Amino acid sequence: MDLKEKIDLAKLPQHIAIIMDGNGRWAKSRGEMRVFGHQNGVESVRQTSTAAAELGVKYLTLYAFSTENWKRPKCEVDALMNLLVQTLNSELGTLMDNNIRLRAIGDLTHLQESCYSQLLETMGKTSNNNRMDLVLALNYSGRWEIAEAARKIALEVAAGKLDPESVNPDTFQLYLETSNIPDPELLIRTSGENRISNFLLWQIAYSELYFSPRLWPDFRKNDLYEAILDYQNRERRFGMISEQII
Ligand code: IPE
Ligand code: IPE
Ligand code: MG
Repeated sequence: MDLKEKIDLAKLPQHIAIIMDGNGRWAKSRGEMRVFGHQNGVESVRQTSTAAAELGVKYLTLYAFSTENWKRPKCEVDALMNLLVQTLNSELGTLMDNNIRLRAIGDLTHLQESCYSQLLETMGKTSNNNRMDLVLALNYSGRWEIAEAARKIALEVAAGKLDPESVNPDTFQLYLETSNIPDPELLIRTSGENRISNFLLWQIAYSELYFSPRLWPDFRKNDLYEAILDYQNRERRFGMISEQII
């Protein structure tokens, strides 16, 4: 029985988030430039997105560029942005064939103009697809998102539109980028690094974390199946005790 068949579709995570990491090391181990790793990571994005959609996952969020990634050498940042534009264009067919809607979270208006306009174009063309939402986190960081939510709330309070007493975790989350996306049940990070790197800090409060040693350009459908099977063997207690979990 292959891995895919072992997955219990009744217990499938609705939302999987992935910190795609290890492109640079993958390239370096082959004596290549870091950008070669990013280019090869595109196939992993394709495989993971189609595998998730085929299974019936409703949301797949991929961490593609963090607020902190601007600190990388300019040539790498430029190469990543160019690759993003090219990929958003070249993968439109894959998104349409698989009925996947593209969305994005992050400080999008501060992306380069060519990226922002290509992003809007691809999001627009896929906006009627409804099998799965592929959410790209671009110029994103969890602290930025939370601070931004606090700023929007403060503005509404100052304008007399919001009662400060009504602010609680449920109302706060309405101001996040992910306000209409459920929290991820499963968060995967590749490349053997055991950290969150400012990703979805609010949303992962009760996510199951899965760290894969695989470098992102090597990540394939079976690696996603393995992560889901691992997740399905865990007991999620949300603060309760085993006996309370049905
Ligand atoms: C992940 O791979 C891609 C991005 C952060 C954009 P890295 O580029 O971080 O690869 P490593 O971690 O240096 O190997
Ligand atoms: C996290 O990876 C950001 C993305 C995957 C886009 P990094 O490679 O930037 O994280 P650190 O710097 O190793 O924590
Ligand atoms: Mg990295």
